Amino acid sequence: MKIFVFISLFAACLQANVLTPVWIELGPDGARLARVIVDTPNECPVLKADGKPLRTALRTPVPDGFKPACEAKLPEGTKSVKFGRISIHVPAALNNIAVVGDTGCRVKKESIQACDDPEQWPFGAVAAQIARSKPDLVIHVGDYLYRESPCPEGASGCRGPSGDNWLAWQADFFQPAAPALSAAPWIFARGNHESKRRSCVGWFYYLDPQSYAGNCAEYSEPYIAQVGDLRIGVLDTGGAADDRKPHPAEAVEFADQLAKLSGKVDWIVDHHPVWQYSYTSEKSPLTPIGGAPFPGWQAAKPEGVKLVLSGHLHLFEFIGFGGDRPNQLIAGDGGTQLEVRIADRNAGETDSGMAVKAGELTPRFGFTHLHRAANGWNLELRNAAGKVLLTCDRVDQPSPSCKSQQ
Ligand SMILES: [Fe+2]
Repeated sequence: MKIFVFISLFAACLQANVLTPVWIELGPDGARLARVIVDTPNECPVLKADGKPLRTALRTPVPDGFKPACEAKLPEGTKSVKFGRISIHVPAALNNIAVVGDTGCRVKKESIQACDDPEQWPFGAVAAQIARSKPDLVIHVGDYLYRESPCPEGASGCRGPSGDNWLAWQADFFQPAAPALSAAPWIFARGNHESKRRSCVGWFYYLDPQSYAGNCAEYSEPYIAQVGDLRIGVLDTGGAADDRKPHPAEAVEFADQLAKLSGKVDWIVDHHPVWQYSYTSEKSPLTPIGGAPFPGWQAAKPEGVKLVLSGHLHLFEFIGFGGDRPNQLIAGDGGTQLEVRIADRNAGETDSGMAVKAGELTPRFGFTHLHRAANGWNLELRNAAGKVLLTCDRVDQPSPSCKSQQ
């Protein structure tokens, strides 16, 4: 019997034709999930968890147009996962976190990026820098798939797959993200590009940490991903309206979800900022607006949250309120077409009636590196070459401060 098990495990290793690196994602109730995408359904590989074989199983049902994903739940307390030459450390505490968002190459009607030009679409370089930063955790704040339409006739640089299918997900996320995928466990937030009307199948099948239901939900239940003493609430705002008009039913939904996290989390990760400075063109003034979950936040007033991490705006923003409102980080600068708004400080202004004590806003490609210090978490905004552009200290405290490095 033992020989048979050994031979079948060995055969599974040999057969595995994996299309992506193995990645680990954090899920509800302390779950750590190892996943990998394979060529055919019978190729789910056997990994090693702390040196012991860990068999992955097919994630079902496999949607039409998608390559199969395999999954294994890590035994509690697993410290490392190995497959081939790649080993992923599963940390027991967090000291370094990379935050990135809005990463795909925009190809939608006439609004396009040259996906084959790393200057114009640098997500691959950003992912390599994330790996080099040796994070304990990577947080993606949503919006993975931007290749929604075929490359227009006569346009250059954007030929390739499009739509909610494996080839487009591979081109827009899995291939460029590869260096960072195995660098550390991930938390994935759902963006509006993964809403029910857009690329939700790839989201729910590949990235959502719950079991796959074979269809797309409008909302997901919030959950708490905890590592060591840091409790991170993950909120799905993918289906939130984007028109800045009142949506009472949506406000009730988000208030209900936020109430479930109240008093139980230190940070909240979602796609839509709760607070943000808008932009419409190069000449428009900075305009503070409440983001999509804002009415729900006002109704629920969740307690104990020190920092909200979001994306959606294609730039970097940090808004430190320094009061009883959490500070807001926006990390939507991971690769998709940047906002046109010129860089501007926002300290001293007000947002939704509260003064901004420390703030930065800059539309440049990169990611945010958070690191734990003696008196709170500090951040560095790093560009696609790894250069530090600005720093903010104590971003989870009532006394944040930011400083440009240029
Ligand atoms: Fe978005």
